[in-house]
Amino acid sequence: MKERIKELEKEAIESLRKITDLKDLEEFRIKYLGKKSELTSIMKSIGKLPPQERPEIGKLANQLRERLKREYEELKERLEKKGKEKRFIDITLPGRAPLRGHFHPITTIINEVCEIFSKMGFRIVTGPEIELDYYNFEALNIPKDHPARDMQDTFYITENLLLRTHTSPIQVRVMEVERPPVAIICPGKVYRRDSDVSHTPMFHQVEGLLVDKDVSFGDLKGILTLFVHKMFGKDTKVRFRPSFFPFTEPSAEVDIECVICKGKGCRTCSFTGWLEILGSGMVDPEVYKFVGYDPELYSGFAFGMGIERIAMLKYGIEDIQLFYRNEMRFLRQF
Ligand code: DAH
Repeated sequence: MKERIKELEKEAIESLRKITDLKDLEEFRIKYLGKKSELTSIMKSIGKLPPQERPEIGKLANQLRERLKREYEELKERLEKKGKEKRFIDITLPGRAPLRGHFHPITTIINEVCEIFSKMGFRIVTGPEIELDYYNFEALNIPKDHPARDMQDTFYITENLLLRTHTSPIQVRVMEVERPPVAIICPGKVYRRDSDVSHTPMFHQVEGLLVDKDVSFGDLKGILTLFVHKMFGKDTKVRFRPSFFPFTEPSAEVDIECVICKGKGCRTCSFTGWLEILGSGMVDPEVYKFVGYDPELYSGFAFGMGIERIAMLKYGIEDIQLFYRNEMRFLRQF
């Protein structure tokens, strides 16, 4: 019995020295100090020994038990402390990068457009989103019976108050209070009753206006061509196609060579090889009447473009609604 206690001590201490985590330590406790451990059964059997052997064996067994308990407690404390330290200052763990935001693609395009025109001397101006009928339609030579006023298209608040359907009213607001030369670029939100893969009830436009003495259609072509080259690359083909707007005469829509198929014809350009990107024209003398400019003295051009459309073409996005779903997987790509 004495021998067995000695052996048990050696065995237990050896296995204790190898323990490096709390799980193994618990196994150790069960094996050497638990209710079903050999040491416990030795202690239980002491009563059955011849009386003269009992004190010595009892003492040895107790001593072993005390030693193992003490060693166990010490190691437990050490391992627990080590575990905590590890949690707080494991300098080998890689750091967690802080989340960093960036501009929404629409904001990026607005900034790019404004920067291109700012560098050409245009001043950035904004206007109200809740607009008077007068500025949104009347003073832009869109009379009461014009189809653009259709209830389908415009969000009316009252008979005379509406959500602006384009950024063109800013032209009128500026000309009303400033004399030429005027060169402005006006970004902002606009609203129409429309919603599908290429329309949202709210979208963004940028409006431009330049009025001075001797401004010609050649200036319009030159400046808008330069814009296209800066925005889409200097090899992008541009064409000016006759069109109609109530507030410009003559009017032209600007097309660029399809960015997807490079003019060969594809689904995006409806197999025409061209994509419309903006409306433009020489300011109609009728508009000057509303703001008190002398059409004999001044001339100018204006243009307007949809930002979502530019962004879709530039980034190859097929569904306009993606801009407004706040999906991180989509937004992170920009
Ligand atoms: N306001 C027009 C629209 O919303 C765009 C536009 C066309 C603006 C021609 C202009 C212009 O200033 O000259 O579709």
